[in-house]
Amino acid sequence: MTASNKITLTKPDDWHLHVRDGVFLPSVLSDTADRFARAIIMPNLVDPVTTTRLAGEYRSRIIGALQNKHKLTFDPLMTLYLTNRTSASEIKKARESGFVHAVKWYPAGATTNSNQGVSDIVACYDVLEAMAEEGMPLLVHGEVTDPTVDIFDRERVFIDQFLTGIIKNFPTLKIVFEHITTEDAVLLVEGASDNVAATITAHHMLLNRNSLFNGGIRPHHYCLPVLKREKHRKALIKAATSSSKKFFLGTDSAPHTKETKESACGCAGIYSSHGGIEFYAEIFDKAEALDKLEAFASFNGPDFYGLTRNQDKITLSRKQSVIADVIPFGNEECVPLRAGGNLRWSLD
Ligand code: DOR
Ligand code: ZN
Repeated sequence: MTASNKITLTKPDDWHLHVRDGVFLPSVLSDTADRFARAIIMPNLVDPVTTTRLAGEYRSRIIGALQNKHKLTFDPLMTLYLTNRTSASEIKKARESGFVHAVKWYPAGATTNSNQGVSDIVACYDVLEAMAEEGMPLLVHGEVTDPTVDIFDRERVFIDQFLTGIIKNFPTLKIVFEHITTEDAVLLVEGASDNVAATITAHHMLLNRNSLFNGGIRPHHYCLPVLKREKHRKALIKAATSSSKKFFLGTDSAPHTKETKESACGCAGIYSSHGGIEFYAEIFDKAEALDKLEAFASFNGPDFYGLTRNQDKITLSRKQSVIADVIPFGNEECVPLRAGGNLRWSLD
């Protein structure tokens, strides 16, 4: 299957994606739908997707914004945004819908549009119980929001203060620790039961925290969880290429306008869907683990979610192409990851 300059894979899925809404949808969807058969659509819109009804409406808008060639090849997998007021009956409704595949826990104030997130997870225990019963995965943004905790320690402290307890209290609940960034998170996931898995972004494996300050402040490298030190970057690559079924691809591609990134208070988020699979091929190639890419990108995710693996194939070639300085984004522009640089692998 693997030739040195070409690799053919089962079509992958993106298990963590932000596509925004309205005029922004058509600008970003085709990058994802060109590469992936499915994507877990994050619910942190300005008005968050808190109910099955809202998820259904958002799903229709996404499908409406797809290019014709993608309408039959791309399936948006919807999620609900957990709040202090989410009910157990909403979980049942979500499961019965067939299109809601998970519930996202944003600690209130942790990231973009999270102000309506959870301020007291214990108040949500009946909902977590219902999720465990329905086999509905909990997707976790794992960072504490305590302003006295150093921003680089927020994930590690979250593990100790929240995640370990949740895993212990809800052993049958499926949990995806999203966009893990630390060796601590890798160890937690590896040591937990098969009900606990994690997504890993390309940017957290390509960049360490020096990239935030390389010759000056770099707003396009600012995301949450924030980039970490080199030893953590290496731990993520080791986990992704380890053959463990617990780790799978989630780009966390999160577009913002150039203007809101290049601001006195720049938004968190990195757009990477233009290289949604190519960046991972580069990482796995460099780690001499291209033979591990297919399981990470195309098997482990659907197996964890209880969905079928895709049938189609894609082929990637070791061929450079130039990344644009900006891409159109609604009526504005977005600066993609590695703008003006090269993609080292190309989709055939
Ligand atoms: O960098 C991030 N951007 N992290 C998140 O958790 C949210 C995302 C966004 O929606 O912009
Ligand atoms: Zn995200």
